[in-house]
Amino acid sequence: MPSAGLRVPVRSRCRGTLGGVERPLVLGIESSCDDTACALVDGAGRVLASVVSSQLAAHAPYGGVVPEIASREHLVNWPAVSREALAGAGVAISDLDAVAATRGPGLVGALLVGLSLGKALAWARRLPFFAVHHLEGHLYSPFLAPAGEPAAPIPERFVGLVVSGGHTALYRVDGAAVETLAETRDDAFGEAFDKFGKRLGLAYPQGPKVDALAELGEAKRAPLPRLAGTEELFFSYSGLKTQALVALERLEARGVATRANAAADPPLPGEVLDLAAGFRDSAVRQVLDRLTRLHRRARFDRLAVSGGAAANRELRRRLPGWAAERGVELALVPLVYSGDNAAMIAFAALRRLRLGLPADDPLAATAVSRLPVG
Ligand code: KG4
Ligand code: ZN
Repeated sequence: MPSAGLRVPVRSRCRGTLGGVERPLVLGIESSCDDTACALVDGAGRVLASVVSSQLAAHAPYGGVVPEIASREHLVNWPAVSREALAGAGVAISDLDAVAATRGPGLVGALLVGLSLGKALAWARRLPFFAVHHLEGHLYSPFLAPAGEPAAPIPERFVGLVVSGGHTALYRVDGAAVETLAETRDDAFGEAFDKFGKRLGLAYPQGPKVDALAELGEAKRAPLPRLAGTEELFFSYSGLKTQALVALERLEARGVATRANAAADPPLPGEVLDLAAGFRDSAVRQVLDRLTRLHRRARFDRLAVSGGAAANRELRRRLPGWAAERGVELALVPLVYSGDNAAMIAFAALRRLRLGLPADDPLAATAVSRLPVG
């Protein structure tokens, strides 16, 4: 079957069942950063196939994502990724009812590849085209089901929390309207994890690795000062990141090894593991603190949490308790759709179709590196 033809590294792949596919059938494309993704979602929000091809190996020698390389890799990977998605869903291009692609925010050259492919496909087949905001994709992703089941209905009103490498933000969704309530003033949640992990000598993306190291430490023993609280809603992670980096310098000055040694088990000494645990604990506490503050100001009864860093184990452990205490219904994105993927882009387009919102002109849609939600 399809995977035999795929010659690009696949980060994640999932296939749904073929029985009972409902119209409209939407093809989604996501290429805002370093993952090339294609997915098929049916009218019931079932993910029939979702393929995400990672470019990590191509960027690894440079220590970060190189925009020009990302664009080129998207072009190289697209034929295999799209073929695998269509074959995985058991559908042909002639079966499609709509096409959706991310228009921003992101790396403009990378966005242009996926957006242009989507526009060309929609125009050639005379299909409705949806240019989707990347964060809108994340916002509704908690309602997707992991294994080919129909999606849960998207509530009319809810608060959305997006935690990723580029964003840490709270939104209020009310029907078709999306209002930004709070954003980070500096580093994003995942970005702070990446920077702290880089200092530990870990490779990108460092977030999941720091999370795994934190599992081995004791947050209470971390040499981190408690940062002063604020009455505001905004997020800020650069203070915590700096405190953690300073604590690492101090440990190093005392002769403690602060660079991960892959050959050792655990790869870092206990004091550094404690620091990782303390860092993660503070990062997660900030999220819960902002949610509490928002809930006190204006009660809400539904919370949807998404984004790559919504994979954080401590965050996933603590959110259900926070929500249960307040009678808030929590939708936590399935792990498979937490990182960037195209199922969320197709699903956001499906929502627009269901709400009767207009499609975009495939000849006019442009890629935008910075783009406010709503
Ligand atoms: O949503 P995403 O795939 O891309 C962006 O739109 O940013 O999120 C990737 C970010 C990276 O910063 C990565 O390190 C972080 O999410 N991340 C994590 C975890 N898993 C991924 N951060 C903390 N803990 C994790 N388990
Ligand atoms: Zn993202």
